[in-house]
Amino acid sequence: MTACDGAPDAPRPAGGDSNPAGVASGPATPAALQPPVAGQAAAPDLLHYMRPGTLQLAALPPLSLYVHLPWCIRKCPYCDFNSHEHQDKAELLEAAYLDALRADLEASLPLIWGRRVISVFIGGGTPSLFSPAGIDRLIGDIRARVPLEPGAEITLEANPGTFERERFKAFRAAGVTRLSIGVQSFDDAALQRIGRVHDAAQARAAVAEAAAAFDTFNIDLMYALPGQTMAQLQADLDTALSFAPPHLSVYHLTIEPNTRFALQPPVLPDADLASDMLDLITERTASAGLQRYEVSAFARAGHRCAHNLNYWQFGDYLGIGAGAHGKLSFAHRVLRQVRWREPAAYLQHAGGNQAVSNQHEVARRDLPFEFMLNTLRLREGFTLDLYRERTGLPLSTIEPALQQAAARGLIERDGNTVRPSVRGFDFLSDLQALFLPA
Ligand SMILES: C[S@@+](CC[C@H](N)C(=O)[O-])C[C@H]1O[C@@H](n2cnc3c(N)ncnc32)[C@H](O)[C@@H]1O
Ligand code: SF4
Repeated sequence: MTACDGAPDAPRPAGGDSNPAGVASGPATPAALQPPVAGQAAAPDLLHYMRPGTLQLAALPPLSLYVHLPWCIRKCPYCDFNSHEHQDKAELLEAAYLDALRADLEASLPLIWGRRVISVFIGGGTPSLFSPAGIDRLIGDIRARVPLEPGAEITLEANPGTFERERFKAFRAAGVTRLSIGVQSFDDAALQRIGRVHDAAQARAAVAEAAAAFDTFNIDLMYALPGQTMAQLQADLDTALSFAPPHLSVYHLTIEPNTRFALQPPVLPDADLASDMLDLITERTASAGLQRYEVSAFARAGHRCAHNLNYWQFGDYLGIGAGAHGKLSFAHRVLRQVRWREPAAYLQHAGGNQAVSNQHEVARRDLPFEFMLNTLRLREGFTLDLYRERTGLPLSTIEPALQQAAARGLIERDGNTVRPSVRGFDFLSDLQALFLPA
């Protein structure tokens, strides 16, 4: 899967992109999830999750909330996210979906009793297709049910061309604090080749509106696009940077299985050119004052994405909405969940408090790799204290792999801190693989 700014459902393998979902970056999630035990999904029994186990988490991680809105105007040929072309009756669907999200959230509350939410990410799909009134209702429903930290970041993903003037301001008035705009490129021909519904002028207009309406916002770009040259990438970067974005996510376009591009692959820049492109991106963003703090994420001081940072620091997140993934910790276990993927199935099940289609406890042996899949994406790495706190495991579970990584020059250790070296960042998948269960 690809990942993007905020997407919860997929980590893209390191190196490639980024994202976490490859692309970008979402949290890295595990492969197999099992159907919920009857009764557990509908009415989670907190005592069941609180029972003794072999993990010892001294404290629960910060908790985020991801909300998935699964519709788009048209499916892009490279996209493997849980996104579906929306048909007619959009308004009816919006109301029914918001009802389902509310039921899903209410049914999930026993799993997060007493915990504050530090960030909300409304992702998709194309959330900006929802009306400002719908987003207002969604945020109101959330605020009425879970305590948000004062000043909590609330991000909404928006696509150029799906808004009219004043729409972004209305999202802001509804409580959204940060907009993430899926631009991909500012070049008309490139946008056409990757099947986007918007053109370059709409992309510029969307970014200008976001800059006017929000104190902080993100631009999503992709590089290594079909037929793209260095000069074209340079022009895309120049245009993006001319808006002085507080945050930029730049993902290497990846060809995902089960997409139209996988069936009819376009001609893409070769690996050497793609590598030169990444060098250009790193140089240009740095000289514009943006720090590459994660494989695909670049930010000015004070504008890192709190929501994605929580994923990358192996924090917790409740995921509601069609196909949303979640990770929730308890004193002695870590639970992963996924909701029904098809919007129709989700709508049907969420109403009956059965939104979760699969869930499982992360096996003790898988936790080191899952932790590394996320934290090693960060330029600053992680502390050994964080490893103990988030996994509930002793350091002995990673010491041999850390020694191997250090011997191969893939990490730097400085007292309590472990960070990928420049080489480790370049060969991230190799580094992370050292932590796979034997
Ligand atoms: C979850 S998508 C949703 C955002 C929005 N719907 C859009 O497309 O503009 C978030 C980001 O992931 C990135 N992305 C999606 N598919 C990708 C792929 N196959 N390779 C690289 N990046 C991808 C794009 O930059 C996109 O903006
Ligand atoms: S608009 Fe975004 S989420 Fe929708 S199909 Fe295109 S890339 Fe996927």
